[in-house]
Amino acid sequence: PLKAIILIGGRQKGTRFRPLSLELPKPLFPVAGFPMIYHHIEACSKVPGLREILLIGNYQPSESIRQFINNTQREFKIQVRYLQEYTGLGTAGGIYHFRDQILAGNPEAFFVLNGDICGDLPLAEMYSFHVERSDGSQMTLLGAEATMQESLNYGCLVENAATHHVVHYVEKPSTFVSTKINCGAYICSPAILRDIAAVRRHHQDENFSGVNGDGSLRSIESISLERDVFPELASLDKLLVFYTEGFWSQIKSPGSTLYANRHYLKLYHKTHPNRLVKNGDGQATIIGDVYIHPTAEVHPSATIGPNVSIAQGVTVSPGVRIRESIILDNATLQDHCCILYSIVGWNSVVGPWSRVEGTPCDPNPNKPFAKLQSMPLFNNAGKLNPSITILGSDVQVPGEVIVLNSIVLPHKDLAGSFRNQIIL
Ligand code: GDD
Ligand code: GTP
Repeated sequence: PLKAIILIGGRQKGTRFRPLSLELPKPLFPVAGFPMIYHHIEACSKVPGLREILLIGNYQPSESIRQFINNTQREFKIQVRYLQEYTGLGTAGGIYHFRDQILAGNPEAFFVLNGDICGDLPLAEMYSFHVERSDGSQMTLLGAEATMQESLNYGCLVENAATHHVVHYVEKPSTFVSTKINCGAYICSPAILRDIAAVRRHHQDENFSGVNGDGSLRSIESISLERDVFPELASLDKLLVFYTEGFWSQIKSPGSTLYANRHYLKLYHKTHPNRLVKNGDGQATIIGDVYIHPTAEVHPSATIGPNVSIAQGVTVSPGVRIRESIILDNATLQDHCCILYSIVGWNSVVGPWSRVEGTPCDPNPNKPFAKLQSMPLFNNAGKLNPSITILGSDVQVPGEVIVLNSIVLPHKDLAGSFRNQIIL
């Protein structure tokens, strides 16, 4: 059998994702109508022989996580379990800590997926490649091509093109190494756990206290796949790379959820055409790809799309226009309001004739292999970078105002129009 591990991080991660992660663990944020890691689980469920999925993270097990697990188990008829780390153990530390659970039932191999990626993940192809190329002691990572400048934000690798071995790996290098990047999806032979154990012993011997990417100190328990294990595996010829040219991106900032939303909707044409709304008599006008939860109430005079997802319990009133946006559970969009490039939070209300608008942050279409950049919130001059507009949960936007390029924290009752502001 095969297994999969999804690394979902914890509360101390996902800071760029506020205010949306204040309500819900980031991995459960819905894109194209379904939680981010639902798409991972669905992709795993299509791999023949994959029986069990382990979510490793350090969130307190909450009702939302429990429910998510129950629902996906039932839907995909696959076992899903949450294994909680007592603290962030790093991308390899959790795998090491829970090794007995991973090895139980003697899987031939297991996938490891970062929870915050999205894409048309070619898992079955990766596995075939791995079986064909690997001698049983190795690990294959999913690679992609990036631009020179962007590559610095990712793990970078140099490959032996003839054998597809990774000969050199550097995590987020400070100067250019290679345009080939790590997509955060791997297939591992169980023997890899021995290599992780060796790294851990090495840490202990040296009374190790390394530093994280952000400069904070790391404990002995904490092991990073990317910083501690991959360079080692590369030197031992134990790391292979399989490339994808399909859709792939990280989901770091809220802006990247709109990008992910658009691509998953497009993928639905192939995988789930029934999830896309079709134009019909007496229904709202639909442009392009749109997902609407069956419980949402949408007035026939509304115009929606392209690239919009509307969650359960949402009310869309007469004359409303929505484009390139995600509308979360139980939000109310009142008459003739206009929502463009925005995320409208749980239970929020947008008043009549108001306009909620953000600035798209798409990859440059003229640059081959350009990836979505997750811009910092502020630029060097201390000004808010233009971004999508986000209304946190329970925000009230009155009628006839404009909210432009702004981030509104939960429970705000806006008094007027705002632009380029964070409203605390
Ligand atoms: N369980 C657990 N425990 N998960 C963790 C921990 C931890 O201590 N730390 C990070 N993760 C999870 C995150 O939730 C995320 O899904 C994944 O591991 C990687 O997160 P980061 O460590 O923040 O790395 P990154 O996303 O900046 O970069 C990684 O992904 C890139 C592709 O998206 C690296 O693997 C890069 O090499 C890669 O290019
Ligand atoms: P681009 O050419 O891509 O810039 O788009 P656009 O010129 O159509 O304009 P924009 O992106 O601002 O608007 C997107 C859609 O929303 C268009 O179809 C407009 O008709 C519609 N729209 C824009 N502003 C309003 C508004 O205030 N109210 C309503 N009901 N619809 C609007």
